[in-house]
Amino acid sequence: MKKMILVTCATLLLSGLVVGSADAIKPEETPEAIAKGKAIFERVCYLCHGIKGKGDGPAAFFFSSYVAPRPRDFNQDIFKFRTTPTGVLPADEDLFRTVTNGVSGYMPSFEGLTEEERWQVIAYVKSFNPNFKTQLRPQVQITFPKIPSSPDSIAAGRKFFQENCAICHGANAKGDGMAWQQGVLKGFFDLPIQPSDLTNGPQFKNGYFSREIFRTIVTGLHQMPSFADNFKGKEDMAWNVVNYIMSLSRTPREPK
Ligand code: HEC
Ligand code: HEC
Repeated sequence: MKKMILVTCATLLLSGLVVGSADAIKPEETPEAIAKGKAIFERVCYLCHGIKGKGDGPAAFFFSSYVAPRPRDFNQDIFKFRTTPTGVLPADEDLFRTVTNGVSGYMPSFEGLTEEERWQVIAYVKSFNPNFKTQLRPQVQITFPKIPSSPDSIAAGRKFFQENCAICHGANAKGDGMAWQQGVLKGFFDLPIQPSDLTNGPQFKNGYFSREIFRTIVTGLHQMPSFADNFKGKEDMAWNVVNYIMSLSRTPREPK
């Protein structure tokens, strides 16, 4: 496993996609901070994630008994919303972003907590998995400038999509490709996970700004593979795909 991660990191490094450490703005994870985080976790997060962080809280069952996603099991190494390569734990900023934004349709935003409280609960979440202490977590850099959207760029992106993505997402990008119909896509807890409907950008769980879609396709999710290798030295193509996906939704929006 370790070897695979190193190889992946090296690959990303070669493709010029890596930046440095994750922890620049994070306050220190003292025992007091972790204790405060535990108190927050046991008041709200446990409802879904379970008191031991196993994804089996009292509300989890009602979410989706028979299909993924279920609330994440923090004792395992598998995370979805990452700037880190597939198979690597998320950077602290990734956890912070998820807790701040929530997960569209599945987890509320916790913007109501102060930043300090969000970092405290993250410190506690990390304490479920000792690998957070030891694993290197290099981040994939989201490269700019992006290719501006144009009919040519969208057409090139559509072609790439039909060849590489339609098998899961369907030719019309609505999430009903062959792999889904054949029932081979299994998420956490071995439950079926449906590919996202890519025509409904504002519902995206991992973000809908162009940089965020770029991040999704370069780092992958859980059942969705990373396409970093396909785009090595061909980042223009990654942006073409992003432009194509953004063209599928009615109201594309970007940060100011
Ligand atoms: C209402 C239920 C609910 C509550 C409350 C909730 N979560 Fe979640 N959370 C989820 C679900 C469901 C997912 C998985 C979404 C998916 O896989 O698409 C998730 C995913 C996450 C992830 C993403 C892990 C990854 O794969 O990148 C983090 C981190 C997280 N939750 C932290 C928290 C913290 C911290 C709290 C409390 C402050 C919290 N959650 C409260 C339901 C909840
Ligand atoms: C092996 C099947 C598979 C392939 C191939 C695949 N995807 Fe996915 N994709 C998924 C699944 C499953 C999800 C939903 C994951 C989830 O909900 O956790 C997803 C989610 C996404 C999302 C995230 C939407 C969100 O909610 O944030 C985007 C964007 C996306 N895929 C784009 C692509 C593109 C572009 C390609 C081709 C370059 C591609 N996918 C190839 C299975 C696949």
